[in-house]
Amino acid sequence: MRVLITGAGGQLGHDLVDAFTDHDTVATTHGQLDVADRDAVLATITEVCPEAIVHAGAWTDVDGCETDPDRAFRTNALGTRHVAEGARLTGARVCYVSTDYVFDGTGGRSSAVSASSTPARRSCARRGCAVRTGTTS
Ligand SMILES: NC(=O)c1ccc[n+]([C@@H]2O[C@H](COP(=O)([O-])OP(=O)(O)OC[C@H]3O[C@@H](n4cnc5c(N)ncnc54)[C@H](OP(=O)(O)O)[C@@H]3O)[C@@H](O)[C@H]2O)c1
Repeated sequence: MRVLITGAGGQLGHDLVDAFTDHDTVATTHGQLDVADRDAVLATITEVCPEAIVHAGAWTDVDGCETDPDRAFRTNALGTRHVAEGARLTGARVCYVSTDYVFDGTGGRSSAVSASSTPARRSCARRGCAVRTGTTS
């Protein structure tokens, strides 16, 4: 299977690269692909044409995200949107590992952002983004 991994230099991305050694894998670090750059993401995905994208690129500094919500939104919300857009263009499946800092398990399998949940969700809600938990295809 042809697999594209974003955020390959991080903790999860590094382990994913090891886990996918039996596959035709293209691994991109932050320096190689900034997921906040829509044009770059779409160009990479259409060039690689993966069957699956494991999206591990994220700004994970939770305190930093609280103090710089614009950067957090660009990377974690828009970046993920760009990956999803590219996947839609090419027919790839997307695997995205969320975190209990955003989804604390109280909202069920799938839920809209509400103003009454975790700080990260409240920040997202202020920017009007919709989110979904659980696995999708
Ligand atoms: N590790 C876990 O146990 C765990 C558990 C649950 C969920 N997750 C989720 O898995 C994802 C990755 O977590 P992690 O633990 O691997 O975090 P991490 O070690 O901080 O890795 C994140 C990687 O994303 C890169 N990155 C940052 N901004 C980027 C951008 N704009 N474009 C592309 N790449 C960018 C970082 O590169 P730089 O450092 O060079 O900026 C880093 O290599 C996150 O969504 C996290 O919430 C992880």
